Parts: sequence; structure tokens; C-alpha cells
Amino acid sequence: MDVIVLASTKGGCGKTTIAAHLAVEAERQQHGPAAVIDADPQASLARWWNLRQMDTPTFVQTTLGGLASQLDALRASGYQYVFIDTPGADVSHTRPILRQANIVIVPSRPSPLDLGTLGVTVGMVEAERKPLMFVLNAVTARTRISTQAVIALSQHGAVGAILHQRTDYAAAMTDGRVAGELDPEGKSADEVTQLWLVVRKHLRKHAMPTAGEEVSA
Ligand SMILES: Nc1ncnc2c1ncn2[C@@H]1O[C@H](COP(=O)(O)OP(=O)(O)OP(=O)(O)O)[C@@H](O)[C@H]1O
Ligand SMILES: [Mg+2]
Repeated sequence: MDVIVLASTKGGCGKTTIAAHLAVEAERQQHGPAAVIDADPQASLARWWNLRQMDTPTFVQTTLGGLASQLDALRASGYQYVFIDTPGADVSHTRPILRQANIVIVPSRPSPLDLGTLGVTVGMVEAERKPLMFVLNAVTARTRISTQAVIALSQHGAVGAILHQRTDYAAAMTDGRVAGELDPEGKSADEVTQLWLVVRKHLRKHAMPTAGEEVSA
């Protein structure tokens, strides 16, 4: 089971949106079962899930203290992926959650405000020695600031994918769905599929060998 944590100290960069979209994508591609955990007291992911008509992905209620044993229980029940949404500013809350991660996805908008605050998040992920992947989110195509943002992010780590600014991402979140459920043929659906592919590749690249497995040279 892989634990995918969405983290960034910058509010509004897309943590909750991406957690929901990836969890649904994992289920849609039959890579699940997948679960989501909302570790943000703002509870945006929980609100999205409560509006959702479908049972998947599973929503798991837990506390910070109970997180490790809850993840063990999910692992034992055969869950393949768990997506954890974290709060923006509360670093003390996010740090212990990062410890549980197989990969940390850090969304960033292509704005100097977002890029300027990334150092804190990157430092936190590096301190926990966890693999990090950026997602450049809410991009307006062919803008100079987006190209500059990719260059700026690349200096800190891999930019896994780019998601464009589209109203279907926001609209889906307010009715318990994801963009690909609103329009399966749409560009946003494609982007999320691509992002999930890259996330899985990163997970495989950083996979720790489990007991009994050969470590190839
Ligand atoms: N690619 C996108 N296109 C259009 N709107 C987007 C996109 N990504 C996110 N949004 C919208 O931007 C707002 C902030 O996104 P979201 O809530 O996912 O950010 P967050 O990082 O979880 O914020 P917080 O730190 O407050 O929890 C939401 O209204 C969301 O619908
Ligand atoms: Mg959020």
C-alpha cells in the first residue's frame, strides 16, 4: 500500500483538489481500493466526499495519534493507495503525517507568492527524507510565468505534471465529483490520468524493497 500525502504550507495551491482527483482516478483505473483521509481541520475534502453519491474512494476518519495504526489496518484490509490531505499553514500538524508518506506531492500555482514560500515545504519534506514531486497547478497555457515556474520548481525537485486552470476542477469539487466525471472526454480528465501515471512511476522508482525481495544492483 502506498501513502500519498498532499502538502504545502501555501493555502489554495490545490492540495484538496488533487487529493480528490487522484483518489478517484486510482479507483477508475482499477488500481484501488483507494482511501482518502482529511487531516485538515478546514475539512474541505470531507465536505467534497459527503456530497459524493458514490462509495469510492473510501473516506477514513482518524486522528493524528491514531494515523499509523489506521494505516496498518487499511494495509491489512487490502487497500492499495491512501491519499492524505493536509492543512496549509499548520506545519506542526503536517510533519508527523509526512513520516507516513511514500511520496509527497507538493502543488504550486505559477505565482511568485506560491513559489516564494516553497522553501518551508521542501525543507520539511527533505527533513523527513521523503520523495517529493511538484505539480504545477492552475496554469494558463503559454504564459511566461508558467515557464519560469517550471524552471524555478525544477531547482528543488521533479515537476511531475502540469494541471491547467479550468472551471471543471473547481465545479467538480463543489458537487462531490471530479472533473473526469463531469466530462470524461475533457482535457482535465486527460491531465489527471497523466498525473496519476507519473505518480505511480515515482512510487515504483522510490519503492523500498520489502522483506524477502532481492535488491538489484
Ligand atoms: N487547476 C485548477 N483550475 C481551477 N480551479 C482550481 C484548480 N485547482 C484548484 N482550484 C480551485 O482553487 C481553490 C483552492 O484549491 P484547493 O482547495 O484544492 O487548495 P488547497 O491547497 O487544498 O487549499 P487549503 O490550503 O486552503 O486547504 C479551490 O476553489 C479549487 O476549486
Ligand atoms: Mg485544502
